[in-house]
Amino acid sequence: STSGGAPSDKKDAQLEAYRENAGEGFLTTDQGIRVNDTDNSLKVGERGPTLLEDFHFREKIMRFDHERIPERVVHARGSGAHGHFQVYESLADLTRAKFLQDPARKTPVFVRFSTVAGSRGSADTVRDVRGFAVKFYTDEGNFDLVGNNIPVFFIQDGIKFPDVIHAAKPEPHNEMPQAATAHDSFWDFASLQTETTHMLMWALSDRAIPRSLRMMEGFGVHTFRLVNAHGRSRFVKFHWKPLLGVHSLVWDEAQKISGKDPDFHRRDLWEAIEKGSYPEYELGLQIVEEDDAEKLGIDLLDATKLIPEEVVPVRRVGKLTLTRNPDNFFAETEQVAFCVSNVVPGIDVTDDPLMQARLFSYLDTQITRLGGPNFAQIPINQPVAPVDNHQQDGFHQHRIPRRRANYTVNSLGGGCPHLANLANGGYVHYPERVEGEKIRKRAESFGDHFSQARLFWVSMSAPEKEHIVKAARFELGKVESLEVRQRMVANFVEVDMGLAKMVAEGIGVDVQAAVKFVGKRNTKPAVAGAPSPALSM
Ligand code: HEM
Repeated sequence: STSGGAPSDKKDAQLEAYRENAGEGFLTTDQGIRVNDTDNSLKVGERGPTLLEDFHFREKIMRFDHERIPERVVHARGSGAHGHFQVYESLADLTRAKFLQDPARKTPVFVRFSTVAGSRGSADTVRDVRGFAVKFYTDEGNFDLVGNNIPVFFIQDGIKFPDVIHAAKPEPHNEMPQAATAHDSFWDFASLQTETTHMLMWALSDRAIPRSLRMMEGFGVHTFRLVNAHGRSRFVKFHWKPLLGVHSLVWDEAQKISGKDPDFHRRDLWEAIEKGSYPEYELGLQIVEEDDAEKLGIDLLDATKLIPEEVVPVRRVGKLTLTRNPDNFFAETEQVAFCVSNVVPGIDVTDDPLMQARLFSYLDTQITRLGGPNFAQIPINQPVAPVDNHQQDGFHQHRIPRRRANYTVNSLGGGCPHLANLANGGYVHYPERVEGEKIRKRAESFGDHFSQARLFWVSMSAPEKEHIVKAARFELGKVESLEVRQRMVANFVEVDMGLAKMVAEGIGVDVQAAVKFVGKRNTKPAVAGAPSPALSM
């Protein structure tokens, strides 16, 4: 790592002020008092009781007692790295975001890769979705692209997120099993919630056991907006394409590695960076003109659908390079706080109901996880852009604002000298026109749960199909309830009869019974206008 070397970019220069090197001075207490013995507590005689007045002993134990903070409620297991992003050519026609306009500009980034379901110390090579979260420290503020390595999601509305996660995490009575997928409650949920089917096809595929964090794609999943200086908005899907290509383990390897080296992905990333084999990913954009959105035949606000790359090609617009390992795991990788609502001018969100929930959830959870509302001041989270506002106080306030008046507007000397220019250069939300009744109802256009699952299945090669069938047999074969297994086979029947038969055979389910079950169920079949299965990805 470059710690101790010259700062390499603006973010690194900012972090430099916080870096400390060990072994350069005396051992002291947190109050700066030199310690003369840290191996023996202060006692009455050699064998007597320890004294309460031993401030060094109390401080040392107290600090140890409070080392843990809550792990992330999801994505607890992760590995981070520093790097930079550079755009290939100006995207000024698409967005006013300055970091996407100047090919000479290197924007510092911090990336955290993660698994979703396991706890902080869980193994790397489990079958699971991988998080791919990127914080861009732009001159206009932080932009976080908080994505996954699978382009779609399990559910369509964020209000169901607690349900899908409770189903995937260990069961509440006995905290078993640790595996995300191999248990009854997960498959019970999945079988009852047919919108999960498309994502499940990906999760059962080789995509869910990557060979390396350097060899997987990333996806923003939701539809975002890019807005240019003229206020023109276009829809966009974000992609990361690894320059090493996409590679996976096979299940047998993944299981063995989990036992032999639970840090397999973390170690691979760390060592590659130490050796100078810097991981690289190209940023890709799928752009859809507002007027063309309806013609796609899929609802862009439905996060269980992707836009096939044949329909809208991915334009590669820039490159992310990871060049430096963190100096300290806790300070950086553990304390980094991503949020989908961290967007800069020129990038905006949409009405995707999954995304809308995320805009709230990350900020909210981080208040607990990072001990109060001032977590944006933690070094890894600090923007390189100047910060000035009238937010105040709270746990762990590290700034010392020097001002008499702390409200907007004031005339007594209260910071933010450019307040008069609030409208000038500030973030303007895209003035989308919306109207409708306040209702709790899923859109008709979200009703097709199987077409893209089928599209995925038919696009697989023979060995890939075999892996999916084996994975489904492995996972569902462990499910106690015959009813749950049967319901899952019924879902597979709607994807592809061949798939359903092969899975059913391995898990003791009569596929004909499952077919009858499909008939009784009240879900919609694939809709007309959805991308045809003939259109392979
Ligand atoms: C954490 C991705 C859906 C709530 C994360 C992380 C990633 C991620 C990559 C790890 C961030 C890190 O490394 O610190 C996604 C994607 C989603 C999705 C791609 C769907 C497209 C949701 C939804 C919710 C949610 C719907 C809630 C309604 C959370 C929370 C955390 C988290 C609470 C922990 C954040 C923290 O403690 O810092 N998610 N997520 N996610 N996600 Fe999501």
